[in-house]
Amino acid sequence: MNDSIAIYPGSFDPLTLGHDDIVRRGLRLVERVIIGVAETATQSKSGLFSIEERVALIREVYADEPRVEATSFQGLTVDFARSRGARLMIRGLRAVSDFEYEFQMALMNRSLWPEVEVLFMAPDVRHTFLSSSLVREVARLGGDVTEFVSAIVKERMDERFAESASR
Ligand code: COA
Repeated sequence: MNDSIAIYPGSFDPLTLGHDDIVRRGLRLVERVIIGVAETATQSKSGLFSIEERVALIREVYADEPRVEATSFQGLTVDFARSRGARLMIRGLRAVSDFEYEFQMALMNRSLWPEVEVLFMAPDVRHTFLSSSLVREVARLGGDVTEFVSAIVKERMDERFAESASR
């Protein structure tokens, strides 16, 4: 196992500045962060971007950051982590309300693979109320999401909503 690599799993539909904050904090601790877009957790009908689009978008966001990699994965997150030689998993904790679910997942993951270590990181306070679905909803209803997502993500969201409006 390579302890200078961490995986950051999630649905990322889309990646927000809150996620980016966690990635950048992670980069202070490890050499490489692998963002894993989970196929199993995320195939909801209300998804804005397909799994491939999310991965492509994340790669674009980090085009100038060779220490960040993005990929999708199927099946268990612990199997994905193990296959990448990483036993460190990063998760962001935005509020106490995240805690119970995150704690449950961390313990489940550990019972599936005792070697895994989950690192919870607190995001910048400006991002504690952010979630991808809220950002999607605000953008869909014509609100400005500039403060919540990177310029590249905003551009793709605008395109996507323009496409669906013209249909
Ligand atoms: N900033 C902004 N938003 C954040 C955030 C942050 N730092 N951290 C989490 N969020 C938001 C996400 O945008 C997402 O918002 P949404 O629900 O409105 O779309 C929400 O919090 C939770 O999303 P995410 O962190 O992506 O987690 P998830 O619950 O969608 O997925 C997986 C969690 C993918 C890690 C989990 O389902 C998994 O491991 N799946 C693979 C299968 C598996 O191994 N299952 C057993 C797990 S024990």
